[in-house]
Amino acid sequence: MRLVILGPPGAGKGTQTSRLASDLGIAHIATGDIFRAMRSSTDTQQSPLADRLRSYMDRGELVPDELTNEIVAHRLAEPDAEPGFLLDGYPRTTEQAKVLDAELEAQGRPIDKAVKLMITGPEIIARLAGRLVCPVDGATYHLRSNPPRVPGLCDLDGTPLVQRPDDTEEAVLRRLEVYGKQTKPLYDWYAARGILDEVDAIGTPDEVYERLAKVVGLHRNGVGGAT
Ligand code: AP5
Repeated sequence: MRLVILGPPGAGKGTQTSRLASDLGIAHIATGDIFRAMRSSTDTQQSPLADRLRSYMDRGELVPDELTNEIVAHRLAEPDAEPGFLLDGYPRTTEQAKVLDAELEAQGRPIDKAVKLMITGPEIIARLAGRLVCPVDGATYHLRSNPPRVPGLCDLDGTPLVQRPDDTEEAVLRRLEVYGKQTKPLYDWYAARGILDEVDAIGTPDEVYERLAKVVGLHRNGVGGAT
């Protein structure tokens, strides 16, 4: 299966998609995660690129289409993406969707389904304002809805948790503006192709996952047991 998961910042894309891709047995390709890994690289040859990425991301701007498309094309050519993949955070502009569609059509493996995670403005702000991440392994927590076992420390490796640099009020407002102008048109793009589904992203992570799993045809016997 080849999936695209869309939604505004804080909709829960990261929370839901790593689990969904694992249950579906397909590659999870998250451009935000790829960029964060690239920018934290200590390889000196990558430093100018890391600085460039930091300057876009921390202000809540999109990384330019050309660079993003190139990185995703390389990632999609890796063997683990051959049986299927889930794209999280890509495409994010009409230009990216055009390039992706053209490449996949040429390879005879078009996108099967795009899913929009629906969430309201106040819930977005509450989720992003309470998000904490581990700077080492990228694990995501929330002060209220998904707190770490020991306050302020990553469950997996005990590293002190931090706020994402783009979760400041200023950057969040810019991300929402960019989403409204550049990413929202993609809903029409996929609806016109007859492959768009919508999922209510309000509720507990397990409740949202149940809805998502149903929409992508993952038959389950309750949360936690893919069949
Ligand atoms: P990216 O990392 O993709 O950020 P985003 O799209 O803004 O999404 P987020 O990661 O903020 O939110 P999410 O939907 O994954 O929510 P999460 O699961 O964490 O991109 C970052 C930057 O990289 C971009 O701004 C851009 O600069 C660049 N970039 C990436 N892709 C690009 C592209 N294609 N083109 C150009 N540039 C690109 O959940 C949020 C919080 O809510 C967490 O604390 C979580 O625990 C909590 N939560 C989740 N679900 C629930 C729930 N059901 N109930 C309560 N709390 C919940």
